[in-house]
Amino acid sequence: MLNIAVLVSGSGTNLQAIIDAIDTGKITNCKIACVVANKADVYSLTRAKNHNIESQVVLKKDYADNSAFNKGLIDTLKPYNIDLIVLAGFLSILSSDFIQEYKDRIINIHPSLIPAFCGDGCYGLHVHEKALDYGVKVSGATVHFVNEITDGGEIILQKAIDIKCDDTPQTLQKRIMENCEWQILPMAIDLFCNNKLKIVDRKVLIKE
Ligand code: GRF
Repeated sequence: MLNIAVLVSGSGTNLQAIIDAIDTGKITNCKIACVVANKADVYSLTRAKNHNIESQVVLKKDYADNSAFNKGLIDTLKPYNIDLIVLAGFLSILSSDFIQEYKDRIINIHPSLIPAFCGDGCYGLHVHEKALDYGVKVSGATVHFVNEITDGGEIILQKAIDIKCDDTPQTLQKRIMENCEWQILPMAIDLFCNNKLKIVDRKVLIKE
């Protein structure tokens, strides 16, 4: 049984999808040992409490700089013996120290088909605005391993949906969350926790 930590900054609908998938047996061989938020009072913390999941709040303003903040995150997570870190709408760039501490054991969900509409500053509604402005006909979501390049780690799973001619950034965001993110993030966690993922060069092989 693996211990996972879910790092959040917002309402936590992806966190909820993970909780539900564990409850219904779609994710096996793990438990959420801890939810960590980098903002106080986010609804993710209420979701954790409602499901008796431990949570911690680590605020950047309580640290001298980003490096000290990341050290704070590492220290906070240490007692939980975490095997997998899941970034589920975590809006803070992790330091190289943090990434090395959990090398190949951090995954992120991004609401576009990487390598399109990703990277520094490309988060939240901006992602969907850019996709619509560019005029793409499909968009979607990507689960990937996290390395030092923002949204640049090896891709685990992707799911696409068609863009509708009357889509707004808000409608596209909602459809991608409901139809892509809430499905592929739990799937990727289940694959990781059952030792089905192998990174070879830049590719993630999914074992049968
Ligand atoms: C999602 O769109 C996710 O892809 C992005 O941030 C959003 C988080 O939403 N990284 P929620 O907090 O899980 O509801």
